[in-house]
Amino acid sequence: MNDQFDIVVIGSGIAGLTTALAAAPKRVALITRGAFALDGSSCWAQGGIAAALGDDDTPQLHAHDTLVAGQYLNDRGAVGRLTSVAPQTVRWLAAMGARFDTRENTRHEKRFVLGREAAHSRARIVHAGGDASGAEIMRALAQAVREAAHITVLEQAQATDLLTTNGRVSGVAIQRAQGNFAVATSAVVLATGGIGALYRYTTNPSAADGSGIALALRAGAVLSDMEFVQFHPTALAPRSGHSGQLPLLTEALRGAGATLINDTGRRFLLAHSPAAELAPRDVVARAVWAELERGGQVFLDARKAVGATFPQRFPTVFAACQARGIDPREQPIPVVPAEHYLMGGIRVDEHAETPIPGIYAVGECACSGVHGANRLASNSLLEGLVFGRELGGYLARINSSTTSHVAEFAARNIEPPTLDLVQKIGDILWRNAGLVRDAQGLFSAREQLAALRHDCAEDGQDVDRIRVAQSIVDAALARRDSIGAHYRRDAVAANTAANG
Ligand code: SIN
Repeated sequence: MNDQFDIVVIGSGIAGLTTALAAAPKRVALITRGAFALDGSSCWAQGGIAAALGDDDTPQLHAHDTLVAGQYLNDRGAVGRLTSVAPQTVRWLAAMGARFDTRENTRHEKRFVLGREAAHSRARIVHAGGDASGAEIMRALAQAVREAAHITVLEQAQATDLLTTNGRVSGVAIQRAQGNFAVATSAVVLATGGIGALYRYTTNPSAADGSGIALALRAGAVLSDMEFVQFHPTALAPRSGHSGQLPLLTEALRGAGATLINDTGRRFLLAHSPAAELAPRDVVARAVWAELERGGQVFLDARKAVGATFPQRFPTVFAACQARGIDPREQPIPVVPAEHYLMGGIRVDEHAETPIPGIYAVGECACSGVHGANRLASNSLLEGLVFGRELGGYLARINSSTTSHVAEFAARNIEPPTLDLVQKIGDILWRNAGLVRDAQGLFSAREQLAALRHDCAEDGQDVDRIRVAQSIVDAALARRDSIGAHYRRDAVAANTAANG
């Protein structure tokens, strides 16, 4: 198949679907490696969408909280764009059919139920189905995409290379079981999500392996902020020997009053921050890590705060606990931190464009600078929606002509990585480029990854995920101070927050 589209969107998570929808009436091909709208992180999201919808809230307050969590390393323009349209973005989704949790006020008006999460100064998190927000939002968006005449969805189709002619994008090379082919286009949007699958423990599914970042690197794009990897403090502790995706225990549980205790039953977070369980995510995650490093165990105790209402309020978490034989109404839940989100990624400008004309990136794989050194909870679905809508609208407006044919390209087949390779990279990053880092561990990771890359290249194995892992280690080595999610135990913490 050889075809032409105005725009090719790679990835079918929240950012990809939103961009494709907003790009009407341009002709869009939406390609996804797995099953449409199902294999990425978006549908796993429990926490909802942050938006200043409460009577006591404003977009300025939301922006302020975003900057404080990001340690003021954020791009302020991007933060302003994100937070100012958040309320109307939630209403747009609701109008499209997303069923958010609502309740009637005393005047019998239907209002969004607003939850509280760590480092938010107001209750401003909109949820759906209690803790099934991502699944509900993706259901509504996927249905809209299926009904959109301007979008062609190609499933089980892996982009292997971004093709360029005279320095600008001219097409995408695609591998499919039916055969390899290329599509011609003048705009490619990378919306491939994060990198969780590069770590031993993650809340992300296996598709979050940095594939779009690797594509961008191969095309000559630039990465930024790759040292800023966010770890969620509360994933369900794995059975021994298990690695990969762990069930998330949403931050909303701590927002509802659940506490973190160690194996002596003590609430240890008070010693780390006056905000305790509601301190920024990096602070809570490192405190959990420190307890585990001491050889202890950590538990999320929701018995008092949530108790008998657990199955109704947090059905997804309840089901995950039950599958592990834990009843969270009666028992504290064992937790570990796990990789959750990448603040860095493919560097883009205010139009989401990379330095290579026609190549754009949006959502978790992109680095607009909006999150700074640490993302505020529930700003990620929002990011995909707001910047996806902006980018789609921009591409619909600009005058771009579809190239009539693509440059000659060398078809490549990308084989899935072996389990052994996945585990080796996962262990190297977890031990050396995880929640707590130092130069010695990072140099060791650099050496191990170089050796692994050499061996894989010799065996003819794909080295994409190693390249992305190397970019994290290199960035973590280059930033010698500790800030936000990047914590170097061999450095003194930078005092940038005070400069904000
Ligand atoms: C959560 O529900 O705890 C995750 C929310 C987020 O990552 O924004």
